Amino acid sequence: MELKKQWLDSVNNRVSRRTYLEKDLNDTDILSITNLIDEINKESKLNIQFIKNGKLCISGFKASYGMISGVNSFVALVANKDIKNYKQKIGYYGEMITLQATSLGLGTCWVGGTYDKNLCKKHIKFSDNEDLIGIIAIGYVPKELSIKEKVVKNLNKKNKDLKDLFINNQKELYSWMESGAEFALKAPTALNKKEISFEVNDGKVKAIINSKNHGYEDIDLGICMLHFELGANKEGHLGNWYNENGSYIFY
Ligand SMILES: Cc1cc2nc3c(=O)[nH]c(=O)nc-3n(C[C@H](O)[C@H](O)[C@H](O)COP(=O)(O)O)c2cc1C
Repeated sequence: MELKKQWLDSVNNRVSRRTYLEKDLNDTDILSITNLIDEINKESKLNIQFIKNGKLCISGFKASYGMISGVNSFVALVANKDIKNYKQKIGYYGEMITLQATSLGLGTCWVGGTYDKNLCKKHIKFSDNEDLIGIIAIGYVPKELSIKEKVVKNLNKKNKDLKDLFINNQKELYSWMESGAEFALKAPTALNKKEISFEVNDGKVKAIINSKNHGYEDIDLGICMLHFELGANKEGHLGNWYNENGSYIFY
């Protein structure tokens, strides 16, 4: 699938939003999101679905750290469990939706835990062999972050240096590798620990997630892979990811 140019800017403009304007999405914005979802499902065989009126999905979690409020529309991240590496694919393709929404000026937040999975299932088409992996909140937001959003942002704050991301086994890094990693550092990850690293060998880059215990690793990996690819594209390197013995390599 061709990556859209406007997503490059979205990487820099996106931040998770948790205070929304209680205003329904207009038809033009909905169409832009649903057209992209159709394109994604066709290519990936995922079953991602748009929920226009899904307020109940988050109603049970007002007291949690997430405290997302005022949003009515969501994207339900559904995949058939037989699809190989389906969680990584949900990350990769789901992040396209947040970047597209960002390019439309909308706020977004990935939600893997702080939502009511059972209530959410009432809004979607869902079969026994499928997994609802999470949702993405999408809606209009005030320009400035609310106090609540600033507090959550600081709670989650994690700074990491670009050079700490590389395990480099070649003489020097190419500019597209550094640009890719820079974009990956701006990716949303479940616990914001930025646990991604990149091993470089013979002009190829292997993406590695360093933790294996919170359950969101594969989704985070997919999200970081999309960001890396966009960063590499920005430097004119139109590479591809391929799977080699379970590892993802970009060349
Ligand atoms: C897979 C995944 C699951 C997430 N789950 C939640 C969640 O349940 N509740 C929430 O408030 N934020 C959730 N987030 C948002 C992260 O907390 C947020 O992306 C991270 O702190 C980085 O902040 P940023 O998105 O503003 O860069 C999730 C993000 C990802 C990628």
